[in-house]
Amino acid sequence: MIQPVQSKLLAVIGHPVAHSLSPLMMNAVFTSLNVPAVYVALDVDDLEKDLQTLAAVGFHGLSVTIPHKEAALGLVSEVDETASAIGAVNTLRLGDGGWQGRNTDWIGAVEALKCGAPLHSRKALVIGAGGAARAVVYGLKREGALVTVTNRTRERGEALAESFGCDFVLMETLSEPLDQTGYEIVVQCTSVGLEGREPILPVSDSLLRPGMVVMDIVYRPAWTPLLHRAAQKGCRVVKGHEMLLHQGIAQLEWWLEQSLPRAEGVQIMRNALEKALSNEAGH
Ligand code: ATR
Repeated sequence: MIQPVQSKLLAVIGHPVAHSLSPLMMNAVFTSLNVPAVYVALDVDDLEKDLQTLAAVGFHGLSVTIPHKEAALGLVSEVDETASAIGAVNTLRLGDGGWQGRNTDWIGAVEALKCGAPLHSRKALVIGAGGAARAVVYGLKREGALVTVTNRTRERGEALAESFGCDFVLMETLSEPLDQTGYEIVVQCTSVGLEGREPILPVSDSLLRPGMVVMDIVYRPAWTPLLHRAAQKGCRVVKGHEMLLHQGIAQLEWWLEQSLPRAEGVQIMRNALEKALSNEAGH
């Protein structure tokens, strides 16, 4: 067993992971707040074996990203009720008995969506039914929002809605007038709009109303087609990197077992991410 002595070793594991902005965001906080830790990105394709190796090498904490979040849940020695309910872990910490798992994605979504206003009793539409959507639905429900799920495929969408006690609307019927009234919050949780894919909207823009809060969990590009259209229609836009940074602060606090100056940490992360994303947009 190797024990790092000066710093805590932390990493994001995924496949592919080369384009992750998490190292930039985390290391910016470590530098500014004098946290003795380093954070790297590691491409991991054999999750079970690689987790054992990372433990032996002395890694203390891991962010887990695509495609390992659900598989990681089955490999941890301890998990809390929240991660079990969501069905995925995005955060691992090495304990005496092995890797322990948590999910901070829902915290990131809730913090990003609050925009200074409570979520209780607000009507929210979640687009998608994958792992990311599950975390967002969990967070919104926990805050007391009234959640409707929509998905391209009925079976998967209905299963998600049923497990959290939400309504379900098939995506192709969303443009019907009855279904497009009253949503105050829309969260886009599919891969539609990701850089390199066709720049399309996941749902009709007739859904968008002035004053509605619209968040896209896709953060590359920063302005997805949905956010671009939402801004044109007078919606309050929340960019995807807001969720990334809020879930990141929650990860740090769990790894370091201490609370950080949150507002300061969040602003450091935001500055680092916005600088990187605006440099990309300029290319
Ligand atoms: P993750 O765990 O990261 O959320 P996932 O489990 O692959 O990823 O889920 C992807 C989500 O994006 C699903 O809701 C998927 O819809 P289906 O369940 O119908 O497959 C949705 N999705 C992906 N591509 C889509 C597209 N072109 N149009 C609409 N929905 C899409």
